[in-house]
Amino acid sequence: MHAVRGFLTQGSGFAFLTLLEVQRRDGIRGPIAEVGTFQGMSLVGFGLGALADESVLGVDLFVVGGEDFEASVRSNWTKAGLADARLRLHRGSSTDLGAAAWSELLGAPARLVHVDGEHTRGAAAHDVALAASCLAPGGVIVVDDVLHAWYPDITLSVAAFLKAKPEFRAFAIIDREADLMRGGAKMLLARRDDVPR
Ligand SMILES: C[S@@+](CC[C@H](N)C(=O)[O-])C[C@H]1O[C@@H](n2cnc3c(N)ncnc32)[C@H](O)[C@@H]1O
Repeated sequence: MHAVRGFLTQGSGFAFLTLLEVQRRDGIRGPIAEVGTFQGMSLVGFGLGALADESVLGVDLFVVGGEDFEASVRSNWTKAGLADARLRLHRGSSTDLGAAAWSELLGAPARLVHVDGEHTRGAAAHDVALAASCLAPGGVIVVDDVLHAWYPDITLSVAAFLKAKPEFRAFAIIDREADLMRGGAKMLLARRDDVPR
């Protein structure tokens, strides 16, 4: 976490590792995906927490404020000792991806999807629906910056998703741990049947 610039708090990092460990314990396998990688702080963590034969997909515009950071993501991945073949990056807006393209990029249903891309109501709604469209049994969707004072639209998008898809439930919140810029709360969603586990 100290080696990569980004927005993940230590508490969220531990929560992600715990999710991956519980899934591993229960034989839940599949790629891990992130919409909104920035420089790869959480993405590299997913690579380190996944099994050696599991791939990680990152979708991003890879340009913020004129700075192109795709090369930094790749270099942060390699510096962490991870095999290049396990990383798949897709450059472009997630909102241009439909379910078929998403499933093709993943290659198999995902066991964990981190939604941390465009913070608008339309994009967040799209990204959560995309995540749900190709989720492995036992899979988890983690949505960043819910219950955030700056981004009420994200909370509203998740609420609308849960209303439209009653087979999914919110089962946990990783509480806000730092200032408004870096430490947003995350909401964890899973299919109803997976919630007790
Ligand atoms: C808060 S940052 C992600 C932080 C990252 N997960 C980390 O661990 O540091 C949000 C990212 O979403 C990306 N983004 C914004 N709009 C997007 C879109 N429409 N499609 C894909 N990515 C987008 C930005 O380029 C930025 O890298």
